[in-house]
Amino acid sequence: MKTLSRIGISLPPDLLKAFDQLRGRSGARNRSEAVRDIVRDRLVREAAAGSRGLMFGVLSFVYDHHTRDLDRRLNDYQHRHVTSIVSTTHVHIDRTHCLEVIILKGTSARLRAIGDQVLAVKGVKHGDLFLTQVDPTRGSGHTHTHSHDHGHHRHSHPLRRSRRR
Ligand code: NI
Repeated sequence: MKTLSRIGISLPPDLLKAFDQLRGRSGARNRSEAVRDIVRDRLVREAAAGSRGLMFGVLSFVYDHHTRDLDRRLNDYQHRHVTSIVSTTHVHIDRTHCLEVIILKGTSARLRAIGDQVLAVKGVKHGDLFLTQVDPTRGSGHTHTHSHDHGHHRHSHPLRRSRRR
């Protein structure tokens, strides 16, 4: 087991109360675990915002399939971006609404552009894009440079060092 460093933090009472309520909802066993979860979550988001490496994205949205031409337009859009799309799942929610979940891979800039375009389509009611990569605190998902006998080049190892502890 890794050694843990102990730190003390100060919070105003109302923030501590809100934090404990959040911890209760999140299922974290104690305050330390809850703080670790929040810090990791923030680091993943920061890395997602600035990363030039390979990211995975989950784009989910609800739309009204009675909106004229919308099914066809969303389908056309996906056919034009096949290189970024890993998988698509479509769920018919009720007579009117559909949920679509698209798993994407590519750079964060590319995935954000796709997310913005899809969510801006008329008839798409609400949705969200979640970007992730392998735990950024462990050095994976980055682009690095090293040399081989055929010279110097760049490539990324998105799953490097992702083995379980
Ligand atoms: Ni449907």
